[in-house]
Amino acid sequence: MKKLFIKSYGCQMNVYDSGKMADLLAPLGFAEALDYSDSDMVVLNTCHIREKAAEKIYSELGRIRQEKERMKKSGREMIIAVAGCVAQAEGHEIFARAPFVDIVVGPQSYHRLPDLVKKAANGKRVNGLIDLEFPEISKFDSLPEPKGGNVSEFLSIQEGCDQFCTFCVVPYTRGAEYSRSVPEIHREGLKLVENGAMEITLLGQNVNAYHGAGPDGEVWNLAKLIKHLAKIPGLKRIRYTTSHPLDMDDELIAAHGAEEKLMPFLHLPVQSGSDKILKAMNRKHDADYYRKVIEKLRRTRPDIAFSSDFIVGFPGESDADFLATLNLVKEVGYAQCYSFKYSPRPGTPAADMDSQIPDEIKSERLQVLQELIAEQQRKFNESCLAQEMEILFDRKGKYAGQIMGKSAYMQSVHVNSAEDYAGRLALVKITMARGSSLAGKMIETGEENRYNHIRKIV
Ligand code: 5AD
Ligand code: SF4
Repeated sequence: MKKLFIKSYGCQMNVYDSGKMADLLAPLGFAEALDYSDSDMVVLNTCHIREKAAEKIYSELGRIRQEKERMKKSGREMIIAVAGCVAQAEGHEIFARAPFVDIVVGPQSYHRLPDLVKKAANGKRVNGLIDLEFPEISKFDSLPEPKGGNVSEFLSIQEGCDQFCTFCVVPYTRGAEYSRSVPEIHREGLKLVENGAMEITLLGQNVNAYHGAGPDGEVWNLAKLIKHLAKIPGLKRIRYTTSHPLDMDDELIAAHGAEEKLMPFLHLPVQSGSDKILKAMNRKHDADYYRKVIEKLRRTRPDIAFSSDFIVGFPGESDADFLATLNLVKEVGYAQCYSFKYSPRPGTPAADMDSQIPDEIKSERLQVLQELIAEQQRKFNESCLAQEMEILFDRKGKYAGQIMGKSAYMQSVHVNSAEDYAGRLALVKITMARGSSLAGKMIETGEENRYNHIRKIV
C-alpha cells in the first residue's frame, strides 16, 4: 500500500471532500495516514476564506517540501497536490510560489484526481497539472459510494453560492449554486445509515437554498428533503449547515416544529447587527428581519438554540455599527458563535471599498465581541446543568473508563462508563459545565425497551 496524507482546512464541506478524495485514490493503492512523513502522496485541501488560511498553506507546503526532498535522496517520489478553494482562486500562482507542487485541482474537479495522479506519476507534466474548470457534468456523478462508518457523518447536498456577499470568495471558488437530486442524496443517506451513521449533517455553502430534482419530477426544497430523509429507519438526528437568513422560509421553519429528528440547533450567520453594514455586505436583509426569523423559529421550537458568524471591522464599520452588533448578540443570546476580523480578499467588492478599518481597531472589536460570545456560551452551558439530555456517544474519552458524545446542541459531553457506548443514544443527567464541554451521569431508565433503537457498533 502507498501512503496518502490528506489535510483539510476550513469548512465541513472540505472535510467531506477530503473523505471523497481518499475514496477516489484508494483503488490506486493509496491508504490514508495520519501525517506526511514518508508519504507517497500529500493532498492539502485548502480554504481561501481568510488571508491567514492561504498563508498557512504556503508554510505547510514549505515543511512538506523538505520531506519530499529527503525522500527523493533515497529514491522515492512524493506527489504533492493542492486542492480546494486556494487552488481554485490562486491557480498557477501556486506553481509560481511553490514549484515543487505537482497537482493543483479545484473543488469542482477533484473527481479527476486519479487521472491527474497517474499523469504526475508518469512525469508527463511535472509541476504543470492544473484542472480548474467548473465541469458541465457534476463531479457527484463520478464520486464513489460513501464508505461511512462513523456515528456522525456529513452529506453534501448543495454547493456554491449565488448570494455574492461583498466580502466572500465562495461564489468565485465554489461557483454557482448547484443542488444534487433527491434520489441521489437519499441513496447516499441510506448507505451511510447502513454503515452505522445515526446522525447526518446536510452540507451546503448555502444549504437552505437547496432546490433539487425530486423523484416526482418536481423541484424539492430543503424542508421536503429533510422530511423525506427523516423516514430512513435508524437515522436519529438530522442537521444542516450553513444557512442564509433570507432562505429561512416558513416551510423550513415549520419543519423545525414538526420533524423530531431535526436537531434544535441552527447555525444562522448574520455577520453584523448594523443595517448600514449589512447593506454594504450585500446581505439583502436588515437586522430586524433576522430578529424576526429567530423569533419565528423560537415560537416553532421553543428549545432551539442558535449559533452565528460575525465579521468585525468590515470597511466603514463605525463604533456605532459595532455596538449594533453587540446589541444583536445580547438580544439573541447564542449558544456559540464564530467571529473573525474582516480580511480583504482579492477580487471581492469589499476589498476595494474605501474606509478600510485599521487592524488595531479590528483586534480590539474582536476581543470585545469574543468576550461577550464566551460569556453567552458559558451561560448556555450552565443552563444545561441538572438537565436530562439525550447524548449521541461516538468515541472514547481521554481517560480510561470515559466515553464522549454530543448533545443536540453540539456540546461535547463526557460520562464515566465501564461499557462501550459508542454508537448509542442515551439519556444523561448533566452534572458539570466547564468551558465548552459538559459532563454527566448515565441515567438508568429501568425500562428495557425505552431505548430499543440503541445499537452497539463494534
Ligand atoms: N473576512 C473575514 N471573515 C470572512 N468570512 C467570510 N469571508 C470573510 C472575510 N473576507 C466569514 C463569514 C462566514 C464564515 C464562513 O467566514 O463570517 O460566514
Ligand atoms: Fe473555505 Fe469557504 Fe472554500 Fe469552505 S467554501 S473551503 S470555508 S473558502
